[in-house]
Amino acid sequence: MKKITIAIDGYSSCGKSTMAKDLARQIGYIYIDSGAMYRSVTLYCLDHGLFKGKEIQTEALKEVLPSLQITFKLDPETKKPVTYLNGEEVESRIRSLEVSNHVSLIAALPFVREELVRQQQAMGREKGIVMDGRDIQTVVFPDAELKIFVIASAEVRAQRRYDELKAKGQEASYEDILKNVKERDYLDEHREVSPLKKADDAIVLDNSDMTIDEQNAWLMEQFNKVVND
Ligand code: DC
Repeated sequence: MKKITIAIDGYSSCGKSTMAKDLARQIGYIYIDSGAMYRSVTLYCLDHGLFKGKEIQTEALKEVLPSLQITFKLDPETKKPVTYLNGEEVESRIRSLEVSNHVSLIAALPFVREELVRQQQAMGREKGIVMDGRDIQTVVFPDAELKIFVIASAEVRAQRRYDELKAKGQEASYEDILKNVKERDYLDEHREVSPLKKADDAIVLDNSDMTIDEQNAWLMEQFNKVVND
């Protein structure tokens, strides 16, 4: 069966990662969460004092960025991918509200995008990859054989993130999360470099009222259509 590239983009917290992860596992493809890469750079900046309020010390970040090692390993027990930053497991820390509140600023920096896009394209050279993010179908893999653009209402997405944080025992307020989701939508869509945009040849998936199982079945159908073409 021919190997393809699958690019999944969409708004924050609309379940892209869950669906991309499940699909990759089911079809034996590599899964890369590109948002985790922007989050890892953000965590580094927070940990190393490169944020002064909402200002970023860009010169210091430019210097250190090429040496930051962002990698993914499968957890042998859960079989889920876990993010590492310079050899340290950061999966839970990169999902904190503090990182979420700062990540759009990092993702808007052209030199950061350039470096991370370069790394993402290298990871997908052999195809057989599912990658999710904001610019995967427009910038990273414009030739991807299967492009999915995921949408869901801001309220549904805020509730999902709230449930996720609660389940992990982290403090959260639904109102704060909803505000954060709406702010990030605005920034993702309106930033100058690589704004979130549906590719002309992408298929839209609105999963506001879909169960995970329904969504997975829908995705498998799209995948089979392309590979059996
Ligand atoms: O998907 P996420 O919420 O984990 O993404 C975190 C942030 O990174 C989000 O604000 C948008 C940004 N991002 C991006 O600009 N480009 C990508 N390919 C992936 C994420």
